[in-house]
Amino acid sequence: MDGMGAALRQDSALRHATGEAGFIDDLPEVPGLLHGALVLSPVAHGRIEALDPAPALALPGVVAVFGPGDAPGRNDISASGAAQEPLFAEHLVEHWGQAMALVVATDRDAALAGAAAITPVIHALPPVLELAEAVAARSLLMPPQVLARGDVVAGMAQAPLTASGSFRCGGQEHFYLEGQIAIATPGEDGDLLVLSSTQHPTEVQHIIARVLGCAQNRITVQCRRMGGAFGGKESNASWVAAAAALAAHATGRPVKLRLTRKADMAATGKRHPFLFRWTAGFDATGRIAALEALLAADGGHSLDMTPGVVFRAITHALNAYDVPALRIEALGCKTNTVSNTAFRGFGGPQGVLLMEEIFRSIAAATGLDVETVRAKNMAGGENGDETPYGQALDGKLIRRVHAEALAASGWVERRAAIAAFNAEHPTLRKGLGSFALAFGISFGVMHMNQAGALVHVYEDGSIRLNHGGTEMGQGLFIKVAQVVASAFGVPVERIRITATSTGEVPNTSPTAASTGSDLNGWAAHLAASAIRERMAGVAAEIWAVEAGEIGFEDGMVRAGGNRQMSFGELAHACIRRRVSLSATGFYKTPDIHWDPVAMRGKPFFYFSYGASVAEVVVDRLTGEHRCLGAWLVQDCGRSLNPAVDRGQIEGAFIQGMGWMTSEELYWDRTGRLRSLGPSTYKIPGSRDVPPVFVTRILEGSPARAETIFRSKAVGEPPLMLATAVWNALCDATGAVSLDLPASPERLLAAIRAGGR
Ligand code: MTE
Ligand code: MOS
Repeated sequence: MDGMGAALRQDSALRHATGEAGFIDDLPEVPGLLHGALVLSPVAHGRIEALDPAPALALPGVVAVFGPGDAPGRNDISASGAAQEPLFAEHLVEHWGQAMALVVATDRDAALAGAAAITPVIHALPPVLELAEAVAARSLLMPPQVLARGDVVAGMAQAPLTASGSFRCGGQEHFYLEGQIAIATPGEDGDLLVLSSTQHPTEVQHIIARVLGCAQNRITVQCRRMGGAFGGKESNASWVAAAAALAAHATGRPVKLRLTRKADMAATGKRHPFLFRWTAGFDATGRIAALEALLAADGGHSLDMTPGVVFRAITHALNAYDVPALRIEALGCKTNTVSNTAFRGFGGPQGVLLMEEIFRSIAAATGLDVETVRAKNMAGGENGDETPYGQALDGKLIRRVHAEALAASGWVERRAAIAAFNAEHPTLRKGLGSFALAFGISFGVMHMNQAGALVHVYEDGSIRLNHGGTEMGQGLFIKVAQVVASAFGVPVERIRITATSTGEVPNTSPTAASTGSDLNGWAAHLAASAIRERMAGVAAEIWAVEAGEIGFEDGMVRAGGNRQMSFGELAHACIRRRVSLSATGFYKTPDIHWDPVAMRGKPFFYFSYGASVAEVVVDRLTGEHRCLGAWLVQDCGRSLNPAVDRGQIEGAFIQGMGWMTSEELYWDRTGRLRSLGPSTYKIPGSRDVPPVFVTRILEGSPARAETIFRSKAVGEPPLMLATAVWNALCDATGAVSLDLPASPERLLAAIRAGGR
């Protein structure tokens, strides 16, 4: 079976393995192609006094140098349009590694030498590097967001016990295998074809048109696949492509801009670091009555998508739990660091940390077990199951998913075995932790919840599929092809998957917020259904039956009795009868709304639920640790493709574990990022995968929302399941509060501070 629910490979899996899958840098270079390299700011903050291109232009092969004054349109790459964000720094540099100019040359080495030859003259100013300093100074990129419910003051005053705390989590580098890249090729009369490794071809198109000051119809942006993106190619791809486009436009020659890994890490945004401060009122049973919290996000130097990240953090701060009275304030802070951006989970992974630390504190204060406190405050049961912004959670399902994760891990016996191990072992400490997740699915910006598709059936019955979604390894293209194959009742091989292009499906949203298959799956289904209906009409005419009697199955079209023909024969018959076999499909998520002033509404079409258990072991002498086991249960609705979904669950968990344990971005006191490659920035490797790694797609999911074939999004949520590793590390070391990443240094400090 290869329709819905079939465990098929990602469309290029084999070609990835053999190296045949083409990425932009693999394309043969056309004659006359120029290569670009960026001049990056050597200081974190300062006034630009001069940038002399002469030393670069004097080098062999260098053709031109472009700066902020060279944009025929606007030197503005703001994704939201809500603030001005320069393509090349103008007057002021605001972070170390900021793009100041682009050198183009006849080969890449010459371009890099040219960029290195330029020494901008900058009058240095004091930088703000610490998030806490930005919070204290109210250095903000955006108005604060406040989520409130009930009477917090009274709730806090009446609570028999209170506790307070603060902690922080770090950022995360996307570390996509394929770095940022674009090739811009001028065509006739000002046309530009841009190949971009982007999650958002439409934004690339729009921003290039803005920078060049031309109509959007001049610019065509294409992306066949990305070598990973993880949110890092949502807005950051746009400015990289805009720089290439600017140079192509000015020189009339094709321009390729591929960032070096170091430039990529220095100049492109990362996950937002967060600072949390909280006070909770609770009773001796561990039940929380009131909560006051501050969530501060480090947005870096410019706005980018920080409002969206802050929105997702604040709407996920209670996660799967219920607190009757609360006031949570969330800030998007400005510092002189790279502008932080989307990263798998988009503020959700940071938001959901809050309750975990509070549970540990309450457990320490009451002498209860963390799991008892967790259960006491979980949504549903005797507790409420409405989010503070007024959307219903499925408390029953949350409890069921969490219980299944505990059971899968053999929690009770494992606890006992760990206690026995720890009692016997002089230097090693094992720990166990769990986690439950309710992650909202939809873009927080309501109008972004739309998608389009374009389907053609040719005369031989072969089918060409195009839609606005992009493929970054997550398996979107095969899932949408499965949707179309099942609409036509043909094998999936009959569907030709094609590159995303603004020339085929216009005005699209980014492939992000895990909504790719929800949105594009529906759009493609609508397009395919429109064609199928016309085809059924023709078949009905041929056989003189009702259109409703026509069935599409196994590549055949049938109408009872022995009336049948192949799908290709019917396609041929349609052409002969002058019936169009091409259709667009358009989908917008129904039933979502948000009031940003009241901070209330139903912003999410539905929630994705998941739960996890992790077991770790920590070396008390070195602080080193390993995750020994992980048991994950993820609600995928009726999975469109369990093989792809399982890959997403496993990959996301490991990426989340990397963020929480080994990946540390290190800025020195001058604001220079010192972790600029795999030697200084440790992403998880194959040996970090827990030796016991059990992932389970929830069986019999209620799948209530009208999603495509009742499937659920899976791209981001399982990243948060790695929070169980953090909890397990705290359990092993006895830490109540533990900043992330939980590096060996931090774990040692926790152990020294009186932990176990
Ligand atoms: N999986 C792979 N292999 N590579 C990626 O870059 N990005 C993640 C997730 N899974 C990513 C991935 C992110 S951040 C998102 S939002 C979703 O995929 C986007 O795709 P989807 O909406 O089709 O799930
Ligand atoms: Mo994903 S962070 O929404 O691109």
